[in-house]
Amino acid sequence: MIKAIKGAKDLFYEGITPWHELEETVRNVFENFNYSEIRTPVFEETRLFSRSIGEETDIVSKEMYTFTDKSGLSITLRPEMTASVVRAFIEHSLGKKFNLNKLYYISPMFRQERPQAGRLRQFHQFGAEAIGSGSPVLDVEMIILANEILQTLGLKNLSVKINSLGTPAERENYREILREYLKPNFTNLSETSKIRFEKNVLRIFDSKDERDQAIVEEAPKLLDYLGEESLSLFEEVKTLLKEAGVKFEIDSKLVRGLDYYTHTTFEIISGSVGSQNALCGGGRYDLLAEQLGGTATPGVGFAAGMERILLACKNEGIELGKQGNVKLYIIRLEKELKNKAFELALFFRKKGIKTELDYLNRSVKAQMREANRISAEYALILGGEEFQRNEVVLKNMTDGSQQNVSLANPEVVLTKISK
Ligand code: HAM
Repeated sequence: MIKAIKGAKDLFYEGITPWHELEETVRNVFENFNYSEIRTPVFEETRLFSRSIGEETDIVSKEMYTFTDKSGLSITLRPEMTASVVRAFIEHSLGKKFNLNKLYYISPMFRQERPQAGRLRQFHQFGAEAIGSGSPVLDVEMIILANEILQTLGLKNLSVKINSLGTPAERENYREILREYLKPNFTNLSETSKIRFEKNVLRIFDSKDERDQAIVEEAPKLLDYLGEESLSLFEEVKTLLKEAGVKFEIDSKLVRGLDYYTHTTFEIISGSVGSQNALCGGGRYDLLAEQLGGTATPGVGFAAGMERILLACKNEGIELGKQGNVKLYIIRLEKELKNKAFELALFFRKKGIKTELDYLNRSVKAQMREANRISAEYALILGGEEFQRNEVVLKNMTDGSQQNVSLANPEVVLTKISK
């Protein structure tokens, strides 16, 4: 049997309805903050991602779905959206259209990671990017946006973590300081961290290995090596967050797994899911547009993992996407009335009534059983003597009461069931 790819999921029936409510909530909040939707292709030239996310990151070096198309072009299924949004921003000269572009997305992403709860190979993110301003107000707006969506869903067990990664020069200087600090302990580091020591030393902070964690616990902090300008930006972010009443922690180990960040980074963590507890992450990327060949334009954004959010909701007992039952089930007594039943169903559907009928040539008893099984609120019974008199029987499935209604005026049924 051919099955779906490991780490990629089919969604249907009660599995899809929570997504609808989540997507609706996301759209409402983004629209209220005046963000406009952007959709970009699911695949891009591979070099877009290697250039922006960084060659040495786990995403680019290990996790991308990359293939060569028939023209010999290296193509990658997008592992994230920021690179694509900035590419589109440059390609369509959006900076000339608006000084500030506030964009949002709800889209599938692809990373070949080891699947586990909250970690998939095809997963979905919603996120926002504001391109065109270096104002820390936008850094804070991103955190508030993400928080607002999570809180609107009813999530409680959340903590906001923030950090600043400063400028590339400040980070480079700090990398050397960190390497000096780690050198005496090099042999005690995990194999992954030994590799990261050379290639991407800051990522040692992300290690889940307990020995690594003990070693970096006392490491010098990047925040202590930032220049005045970076520090004052960070101060402003903290002040604005306090003024907005957002509780946060400063986490100097929050380095993020993508290379394009400058200054503010943040994550929102849930205490209600397992080890994959970052519901969202983001930060500022003031040099990315220029790195991708555009004019220098500052930007800031975030993305949230929708599977993780739904898992957190489930674990906190939040039921999303409860569906209304079928309002009206049309039962026909004689088989010859099947076309009339269909015609009536179309009439009520057009009036906005969720209506169902039999398509399987079921017996009358089986139709009644089906109406009960799907918890239809009313049944409209068509046939017999009543039909000869141009009447139908409307049955209330909850209390069993029934009444005859003239078929000449189906609007009457409408008023009775809409009460
Ligand atoms: P990221 O931290 O790589 O950032 O991903 C953001 C969120 O996507 C994570 O916090 C997590 O909830 C979810 N996520 C990531 N990988 C997976 C996976 N394999 N399975 C399920 N969920 C996952 C970015 O993607 C940046 N583009 C965020 C950003 C936007 N920064 C600035 N603008």
